[in-house]
Amino acid sequence: MKSLLSERFRLARRLSQPVLLLGLIGLHPACRAADPFDQGDLLATPLHGAVVAEHPLAAQVGVTILNMGGNAADAAVATALALAVVYPQAGNLGGGGFALWVPHEGEPWSLDFRETTPAGYGTELYLNVDGEVVGDRSLSTPLGVGVPGSPQGLFELYKVHGSRSLTFAALCAPAIALAHDGFAVDAWLARDLRRASAKRRLMADPAARNLLSPGGEPLSEGDILVPPALARTLERYARGGQAAFYSGATADAVVRTLIEADMRLGNIVGDRHMTAEDLSSYRVQVRKPLVGWFRGHQVISMGPPSSGGLALLQVLAILDGFPLDDDRNKVRRDQELSIPVAAEDCGLSARSAHWLIEAMRRAFADRAQHLGDPDFVDVPVDRLLAPGWIADRRISISERSDPGVQAWQDAAPKESFQTTHLSVLDKAGNAVSMTTTLNTTFGSGILVADAGFLLNNELDDFSLAPGVPNTYGLIGAEANRLLPGKRPLSSMTPTVIREGGGRISLVIGSPGGPRIITSVMQVILRVLVYEQSLEDAIASPRLHQQWKPEWTRFEGGWPASLLETLESQHGQELRVEPEVKFGSVQAIQVLNNRELEAVSDSRRGGRAVVQP
Ligand code: DON
Repeated sequence: MKSLLSERFRLARRLSQPVLLLGLIGLHPACRAADPFDQGDLLATPLHGAVVAEHPLAAQVGVTILNMGGNAADAAVATALALAVVYPQAGNLGGGGFALWVPHEGEPWSLDFRETTPAGYGTELYLNVDGEVVGDRSLSTPLGVGVPGSPQGLFELYKVHGSRSLTFAALCAPAIALAHDGFAVDAWLARDLRRASAKRRLMADPAARNLLSPGGEPLSEGDILVPPALARTLERYARGGQAAFYSGATADAVVRTLIEADMRLGNIVGDRHMTAEDLSSYRVQVRKPLVGWFRGHQVISMGPPSSGGLALLQVLAILDGFPLDDDRNKVRRDQELSIPVAAEDCGLSARSAHWLIEAMRRAFADRAQHLGDPDFVDVPVDRLLAPGWIADRRISISERSDPGVQAWQDAAPKESFQTTHLSVLDKAGNAVSMTTTLNTTFGSGILVADAGFLLNNELDDFSLAPGVPNTYGLIGAEANRLLPGKRPLSSMTPTVIREGGGRISLVIGSPGGPRIITSVMQVILRVLVYEQSLEDAIASPRLHQQWKPEWTRFEGGWPASLLETLESQHGQELRVEPEVKFGSVQAIQVLNNRELEAVSDSRRGGRAVVQP
């Protein structure tokens, strides 16, 4: 890996609150004005490729693949596989996710490799004798584990959109090397291993304990982690592709591990456990990406069974009709008159924040009611994005908060920290935006000892009983009820924005449970409406509203005056959570001069690496 370190990289990090600390400054660069008619060279390709991911070693692996002639799909696959080794909290073979491929020219394509429910599972397994949901069953027992989708998803991305200038084995090679040689535990992994809930889960699983807490103490920063079983699994996968995961030694190890874990945990699954047949019948799904428009920008994102794209497009469409520009225009006027501009005035005013919160509230109400796996329920995507419904939503927003808002009705009748996003752009102008997850940190905590990877607890994303929130406080309805073979509803929001002529201007995504949607949304708004640089937009503090609970959560760093106005003038109920970080946005912006701004959110330990 030493040679990778010599890659030119850019650490696009910043302190999280310097904008506020700077106080009054004239002509603050975050408020730079752009000529709205300057579209740059429409057909030009970017000057560099770039990879942004949540671990420096993984981002460097991705750029090495670009340098070897691989395209964005190749680099995304190799980066994700490297994350499967160096980022065991979320990077995964035992989980699932979504990938969005947007070519320089042509149609966007999206891949759903979300986990599915084993055929033997039913909601009754999650209930106690009184019919109440037993919280931990969907989080730290085999009942949380969906059939993994990542190994098939990554192989499919390579097969369908890879450049073919590199073999699949070449894409696996850096991850295999990392697993063979080991890597130094970074501060983020060390911290996550000590988080109470993760620690409890990992300690309860003998294989996870042996690997991640040898001697009973979690690994510390600087310790070398060598996962030999994972190296062997990756070697089999490199040789045999997805089939080498879903049948044979790896699949057998997954089934055996789950049976053993169930026996240890008191036999709650019994003979209804995940089977070899569940694994061999797993299929990824190619889905039509959702496409919308916001102020002339084309926004491409993930459709169901993720709710991310739909909620993002709904909120942007609702906000499109509000005069958000008033804030920005005032800043511009002040700048023209050389009146000093407070850095904090470059972003949202209290009134814009109020509109944003109310738009989020409405989108999450629709999410709870109507969204689920489109292979099982009819998700009314078109109706939820119909101009008439969006206009109804917009005019229902008054100057006061409206916690009682309901979902769309047909005329007839909670954050953990471990998902990971990577954004890739190649010099030919192709992009991959991909989010993968085990769900909560280290997933179920159940480690497949003979194969070296952790299994997800994605089935907690189902609505296990009406009105009962999942670990993210999200409630759902019939549309997201657990059924055999079904995929749980997700919030993952891999997104790409294009301009006139199809030129890609932004590749973006984030982890963060439901805060994925609102994090991606706020960075997009800050870049497109408030003309903040990508770095400033990502560093700016975030808010989050998801319908239930009714209050809105705020990161630290918001101006006190804005929070006061939201409460006093708009009746918003607020919770400021200075100790919590919302999401971790990984994004690449292509500027009009074809240069890139690539930024890995300083809220976590990732890195942006730009090709020379
Ligand atoms: O698919 C979902 O929406 C969740 N399983 C994602 C979980 C997540 O983002 C956790 N944190 N960073």
